[in-house]
Amino acid sequence: MKKIMVAATMAACLVLAACGGQNAKSSKNHDCGKCEKHEQCDRHEQCEKHANSDACENCDKHGKSGVSEAIMGRRSIRKYQDKAVEKEKLQQIAKAGVNAPNAMNAQNWAVRISQDKELINGIRGTHGGTALIFVAGRNAVDCGLMGQNMMLAAYDMGLGTVIMTGPLGAIKGNADIMKKLDLPEGMELQFVIEVGYPDEKPDAKTRNMDVIKFLE
Ligand SMILES: Cc1cc2nc3c(=O)[nH]c(=O)nc-3n(C[C@H](O)[C@H](O)[C@H](O)COP(=O)(O)O)c2cc1C
Repeated sequence: MKKIMVAATMAACLVLAACGGQNAKSSKNHDCGKCEKHEQCDRHEQCEKHANSDACENCDKHGKSGVSEAIMGRRSIRKYQDKAVEKEKLQQIAKAGVNAPNAMNAQNWAVRISQDKELINGIRGTHGGTALIFVAGRNAVDCGLMGQNMMLAAYDMGLGTVIMTGPLGAIKGNADIMKKLDLPEGMELQFVIEVGYPDEKPDAKTRNMDVIKFLE
């Protein structure tokens, strides 16, 4: 009996790995036209082992690791479900952040995470996300890379994010919040990332490809 259950669990995980998890839905945003597998599965949440953006062997557009799919599928989310993000997921997102490349590996940054609804909703410019990640540092490039790592990791877990600088003035002007953040001396708050379970699926905004030029 035990063997049958183990085999069934393995088979279920193989199906989930093959179909690419919850991105079944989001992949429609950048329809590859070739790939049936991403359309089939919305059962990712049953299986902890498979992140959303498992690679699709049938499809060269999604890439092998799933990273390309995440890059193309991520969108800023400004409508969230009233559902708390699990602390472990926030921890994983932060871990993705601190694994970003950074100058001289100085890791001159600080990450603060709040799940305090009152604090989050009290900041003008937030959108009802259930967690807020504050990123401070001495080097804006390092912090930006950290931010993108975090957003892609969150997307990979089926979470929505929006990176924001708009609320920075209000945050910096709020002594209570700044005290709670307890940022190291000399570290500037660079941006916040709102996180939550998405309640919208925005289309990708048009990108201007003319900005790219190969040198002759
Ligand atoms: C540095 C920076 C600051 C941003 N500030 C805000 C903000 O204050 N409020 C907001 O809703 N979105 C903000 N955004 C999100 C952008 O509006 C969004 O990334 C852009 O419109 C492209 O859309 P996409 O993220 O869905 O691809 C910011 C993005 C960046 C990179």
